[in-house]
Amino acid sequence: MRIYDIIEKKRFGNALTEEEIRFFVNGYAAGEIYDYQISALLMAICINGMNDSETAVLTDAMAKSGDMLDLSRFGANTVDKHSTGGVGDKTTLIVAPIAASLGCNVVKLSGRGLGHTGGTIDKLESIPGFRTELDNAEFMAIAEKCGLSVCGAGANIAPADKKLYALRDVTATVESIPLIVSSIMSKKLAGGAKNIVLDVKTGSGAFMKTLESSRELANRMVAIGKLSNKNISAVITNMDKPLGYCVGNALEVAEAVSLLRNNQSDGDLYNICVTLSSEMVSLSKNIPIDEAVLLVKDAIESGKAYECFKSWISLQGGDVSVFDDLDSFVNAKYISCIKAEKDCYITSVNASEVGVSAMMLGAGRASKLDSIDYSAGIVLHRRVGDRVKKGDIIAELRSSSVSDHTAAKNRCLGAITFSQEKPSDELLIYDIIR
Ligand code: URA
Repeated sequence: MRIYDIIEKKRFGNALTEEEIRFFVNGYAAGEIYDYQISALLMAICINGMNDSETAVLTDAMAKSGDMLDLSRFGANTVDKHSTGGVGDKTTLIVAPIAASLGCNVVKLSGRGLGHTGGTIDKLESIPGFRTELDNAEFMAIAEKCGLSVCGAGANIAPADKKLYALRDVTATVESIPLIVSSIMSKKLAGGAKNIVLDVKTGSGAFMKTLESSRELANRMVAIGKLSNKNISAVITNMDKPLGYCVGNALEVAEAVSLLRNNQSDGDLYNICVTLSSEMVSLSKNIPIDEAVLLVKDAIESGKAYECFKSWISLQGGDVSVFDDLDSFVNAKYISCIKAEKDCYITSVNASEVGVSAMMLGAGRASKLDSIDYSAGIVLHRRVGDRVKKGDIIAELRSSSVSDHTAAKNRCLGAITFSQEKPSDELLIYDIIR
């Protein structure tokens, strides 16, 4: 088999065979095929696409290029949840303990944030003592005790994806649905869960900006999941504005704790979390979705989910006493405010711009090696659709390392639009694909 022939075949728009796909993935992962040849192939895939069978083989080959987690000891109710990335997206911290408190097993690999979107591992590391690097034995043992453990995805999870993604990034081939699907799904297959719920974000703060492209991505990921013998669903959710009130690591943990303490029974964060965790519970326990919704709401109201959350955090070394005083936990050295300049409505809050502002305060990384200020971030006191009066605080900017908030404040202010007209309500959940 020759890589030249595979490139030419795809250039003419023909479907590749399983052997050809495994040949190029394994050959590239092993360093036996040159970057320039894989670049040409990626471009041919980008232009001519791949059908679902090709994409399923590509996904499987990328997953098997590294470690595959064996969760067989947990039976069939293992469940993973994946978000395509958003601003203020702390849902994993909430839905994982909800699902675990209802008897599902959430043994989850997560990532760090980069750019304007946050990562679950960074949020968890804002809790003093919390360990995100666990060996396999401890990772499994913690899940056996409380139904839940979360660990940073190591270098050997889908290493072929890491190499291919780095090449896509510099060859203008990131935006290809089969390449995105195989990249995301290979990591989910390597994670080993039988049931998978995807949160596909759409809008200004999302990777996919339009509903049409998000729907296409969601449909293809669900198709590939099913071809890979998984129970899977995808929820398409709004990421035009930040999710919830807080953006920034410790701030988001505090918001998640507050929700788990049953302090909210409405709002975008609560509704997305109920939807996602109900999907997780329905798939893994094989029960109707209406029944799962009732169980999920009860897990929050009864405090069962919060108890599970605290056990999990303690088992991973986190100091849960910090949750006794959330104000101290989120304490920041420098705090400044954006105030309304007149009486008006807030008509939009651009999620990615708020994410960039939070990053400028130290909450995120512009490049992989940057360090993070866990106390940094933005608290939105007012949301889209709210009426504000002149002088009302709209947002609070917080940090402990960056002392001058001027640039972040201007960026954040630029993210917010105002009007005398009340904006119409936007959908939060566009669709669920099963
Ligand atoms: N996220 C991934 O993990 N891979 C992609 O290709 C795009 C987004």
